[in-house]
Amino acid sequence: MSYRPISLLLTLGKLLEMLMSQRLNYHLSTTQQRSSRQFGFREGRSIGHALDELMQRVEKCRGQKNHTDIISIDIQGAVENLTHKSFDEKLTENKCPRNIKTLF
Ligand SMILES: *[C@@H]1O[C@H](CO)[C@@H](O)[C@H](O)[C@H]1NC(C)=O
Ligand SMILES: *[C@@H]1O[C@H](CO)[C@@H](O)[C@H](O)[C@H]1NC(C)=O
Repeated sequence: MSYRPISLLLTLGKLLEMLMSQRLNYHLSTTQQRSSRQFGFREGRSIGHALDELMQRVEKCRGQKNHTDIISIDIQGAVENLTHKSFDEKLTENKCPRNIKTLF
């Protein structure tokens, strides 16, 4: 008889991730701690919206004959290298309720 890994863990993990994300998003939006320029990890926003805003700004500058510089950075492994301690400190600093903090 052979055994397969418990694939239910993946589903439960995704469910927990969704719950954590929803709670954190709710906290951040009700306490207005999120920048209007944040497009990632937000419902109803995507890279398309970010590009739209960027193009509108470029067009506005061009309309006023201003120069435009764009700097793009991609930090490799940023999320993977995040320490639990620094994440915990950030949650405390942003007055994250205990019930949400304990999930992390
Ligand atoms: C264009 O440059 C002028 C002069 O520096 C500035 O006042 C204006 O805000 C700029 N426009 C935009 C869209 O950044
Ligand atoms: C993340 O960690 C890896 C392995 O230690 C390292 O190579 C990489 O530069 C780190 N990335 C950042 C953004 O610190």
